[in-house]
Amino acid sequence: MKFARIAGTGSCLPGSPVSNEDLVARGIQTSDQWIVERTGIRTRHLAHEGLRTSDLAHEASQKALASAGIEPNEIDLVVVATSTPDCVFPSTAALLQSKLGITNGAAAFDIQAVCSGFIYGLAVAEKFIRSGSHRRALVVGAEIFSRILDWSDRGTCVLFGDGAGAVVLEASDEPGIIASALHADGRHHEILCVPGGVALGQVTGDPFLRMDGQAVFKFAVKVLGDVVHEVLQQSGLTTAGVDWLIPHQANIRILQATAKRLELPMERVVVTVDRHGNTSAASIPLALDLAVRDGRIAKGQRVVLEGVGGGFTWGAVLLQF
Ligand code: ACO
Repeated sequence: MKFARIAGTGSCLPGSPVSNEDLVARGIQTSDQWIVERTGIRTRHLAHEGLRTSDLAHEASQKALASAGIEPNEIDLVVVATSTPDCVFPSTAALLQSKLGITNGAAAFDIQAVCSGFIYGLAVAEKFIRSGSHRRALVVGAEIFSRILDWSDRGTCVLFGDGAGAVVLEASDEPGIIASALHADGRHHEILCVPGGVALGQVTGDPFLRMDGQAVFKFAVKVLGDVVHEVLQQSGLTTAGVDWLIPHQANIRILQATAKRLELPMERVVVTVDRHGNTSAASIPLALDLAVRDGRIAKGQRVVLEGVGGGFTWGAVLLQF
């Protein structure tokens, strides 16, 4: 066993698409034109009140397990990347493990790296598998960001959506993950954050997402370009050797600027931000599942996944599908 490779993918989008016009109808002082021109977002999905993050993770995971042809109890590691867990504790991963009926004592924990969380989770799970301690991991990105949005702040509430994506990662002699890089720079924690917390029976501080959009934009474009070069260098490849780029889906202009910096045509970039909005840790596995299921990503192709998010955190994974 030399590699950890993706054996199956799945995803979940709650309810029907909510259009920009729907947001206007709900009283948000915005327009379809403003949102499309600045972000490329046309629709997003919003979870109804009764749903929890572990429910979305559960549906995505069931589909990933089915596509891998694996029973839940063959999983020995459950990693959930989320910034919107069901509760303070236990972890959403432990709740997911229970919902899936995994009773074999598989390790389960959450990863908190905001929109880079799935990349962090994938890189961590790969290291568990390559070390020989675990054989099959379920790695999930799941979010209900609509619960941490200030719906009176039109500068942020139009940008995000809810959803989940999952992969089964397993030990293999065939190439899978080839290279990965993870980074953080906590000095920039204030440009994208939910500053509040829970203490003494109360929410303390501001419980909503706050963002300096222009600072985030500049930071994201720089680090997304750099980190792709880093994983390519590790593996002796150039962008010519990459079939698909799946960036975190924050904003079409960030995706276009990153593709331009990498000299990659947009035809080789998987774009879902127009339909999903920004689903934070879920955005990359959602886009991956979509492109696998519609036949764009085929076995043997090389794919770079890359994320950037609050912290600030960023990272990339280069893999052969
Ligand atoms: N509808 C209509 N008008 C709006 C809206 C809205 N939804 N939001 C803001 N405006 C107005 C502002 O009030 C302002 O009006 P004014 O000039 O009269 O004061 C005007 O539009 C410009 O506002 P800015 O905030 O300067 O708009 P900007 O051009 O920076 O675009 C945006 C904002 C889209 C957020 C941009 O900064 C951006 O793309 N940033 C990247 C951040 C991002 O994508 N974050 C996602 C999460 S981060 C991540 O996932 C890594």
